Amino acid sequence: MYSDIFSKMYDAFGWNYYPESFAQLLLRWIDEQGLHINNMLDLGCGTGILCNMIAEHGIETMGMDLSHGMIAMAKQNYPHIVFQQGNMIDWKPEMNFDLVTSTCDAINHILEPEDVKKVMKNVYSYLNPGGVFLFDFLRPGEEADCEPVDMGELDGKRLQFQIYHPKDQFVTLQADLFEGDKLIHTEKIQEHLYEPEWILNVLKETGFQDVRCTDQLLESESGHAATWFIIAKK
Ligand SMILES: C[S@@+](CC[C@H](N)C(=O)[O-])C[C@H]1O[C@@H](n2cnc3c(N)ncnc32)[C@H](O)[C@@H]1O
Repeated sequence: MYSDIFSKMYDAFGWNYYPESFAQLLLRWIDEQGLHINNMLDLGCGTGILCNMIAEHGIETMGMDLSHGMIAMAKQNYPHIVFQQGNMIDWKPEMNFDLVTSTCDAINHILEPEDVKKVMKNVYSYLNPGGVFLFDFLRPGEEADCEPVDMGELDGKRLQFQIYHPKDQFVTLQADLFEGDKLIHTEKIQEHLYEPEWILNVLKETGFQDVRCTDQLLESESGHAATWFIIAKK
């Protein structure tokens, strides 16, 4: 669970970079695919950047996140957009969507494979026919260990970040916040690294069609992104 203190410093310490660059990519992908997207839901929306950038292009967006702190930041940053707190495993919106996204490995935060299956079934239930579920994810072997590195200072507080693998197929991202030499907060984020073939099978069993995994979202662009995406159609 992302705490209030971590949610408040999330963008300031540079994690805004991913949703900002992904929003550009997503808009180009929608255009390239010729999709007619009226509305979009972002699962694990964090501080709401992706929802806001897509909404600026005339698509109605909604975000949801498990963390109360993240939802508070998203609502504060973008009061014109609807954000709801909930668990993507069982949370249900009151409407259906043409596009559901989940980015920056939010799916890997679901630690139990049975719960990932529930997420897929849940998303399927509120996608419009022909709607698309697009998400990124980390595979086993990704996210190399990283010794504590300084991420910079904010309001007199210094953030250190490290990555380690507590056991096979799991990664821990640890952020330590210091005031002077004193450790004032530790945030540990656990992620489960899933095999792409397993996720693709779960999606097919759920009823999704045209299921595929790619590290090259844009067909018009050569070269590969550092991120792997899964695209599934209802
Ligand atoms: C790495 S952050 C990414 C946030 C945002 N997507 C971005 O790109 O900046 C992962 C987010 O997933 C959320 N999350 C984790 N487990 C969740 C769950 N079961 N249901 C909904 N959100 C969840 C976390 O609270 C966190 O905000």
